[in-house]
Amino acid sequence: MFVPAKKVKSYARLAIMGPAGSGKTYTALAIMSHMAEKIAVIDTEHGSSAKYANIFNFDMAELKEFDPRNYIDAIKAAQEAGYDGLIIDSLSHAWMGKGGALEMVENIGQQMKGGSFAAWSKVTPIQNELMDTILAAPMHVVATLRSKMEYTMDDSNGRKEVVKLGMKPVQRDGVEYEFDVVLDMDFTNTATVTKSRCPALTGRKFVRPGEEIAVVLKEWLDGEDPEKVKLMGLLLTLAKEKGIPIEQAWLEKASKEEIIARGKELRAMK
Ligand SMILES: Nc1ncnc2c1ncn2[C@@H]1O[C@H](COP(=O)(O)OP(=O)(O)OP(=O)(O)O)[C@@H](O)[C@H]1O
Ligand SMILES: [Mg+2]
Repeated sequence: MFVPAKKVKSYARLAIMGPAGSGKTYTALAIMSHMAEKIAVIDTEHGSSAKYANIFNFDMAELKEFDPRNYIDAIKAAQEAGYDGLIIDSLSHAWMGKGGALEMVENIGQQMKGGSFAAWSKVTPIQNELMDTILAAPMHVVATLRSKMEYTMDDSNGRKEVVKLGMKPVQRDGVEYEFDVVLDMDFTNTATVTKSRCPALTGRKFVRPGEEIAVVLKEWLDGEDPEKVKLMGLLLTLAKEKGIPIEQAWLEKASKEEIIARGKELRAMK
């Protein structure tokens, strides 16, 4: 019944969340460009990804109505067209956008006995199908999520106070758990890894990231030794800090000792 679990080659499932202008679209493209050869972007933001068309190479489909089934159709179309990288920018609209899940619940609820409770029983399976389609797609997927500050009322010391809970992605609660890695971007275009199944990325921060995350993700997805992937990730960040092109620092098929030695070399460089 049981066999030893083994990490097999698989596809990236990355979410990038952040407020407006934090770098979701750019970072998605910068990472994906080093993971996939043929990139499709599902753009729900009035074609805003096109402003990076001179920097990155990708095809774009614009969605104007955000029924999750429109996303599902677009993902399947990308699959059939043979793309190996898909960027969904943004997945938030499938939840809170024109025709998205929340609007569907409102519209259906008005027509049905049982109101929104009954409406959710119609919309939840559609939302689930969208997440299943994303997770099953035979290509790397990066989804962006808008985030906003969540507040709560606290009256534990006698008077009511508004307390900040932190930034939350605009999507169904718990959407983070569907992805292997979640990057939380801020106004300085710095990504904090807030959730990671890839140990080499856990807890790390990256300033204006791109290739260094892509390389780490690829090695991890290929089932490389996690300790080695971690060392490689640190080496690439060091190279970036030193202004050394990543392909110069990059050591394919190197042993841990070789990576450590190369790290010492880089650190000694001015
Ligand atoms: N990883 C990165 N590397 C280099 N520059 C970046 C990076 N991320 C963001 N930037 C810079 O920040 C700018 C804004 O980024 P971007 O358009 O991706 O933000 P966004 O979060 O998608 O915004 P919006 O919510 O408006 O769509 C970019 O034009 C670029 O100059
Ligand atoms: Mg954007």
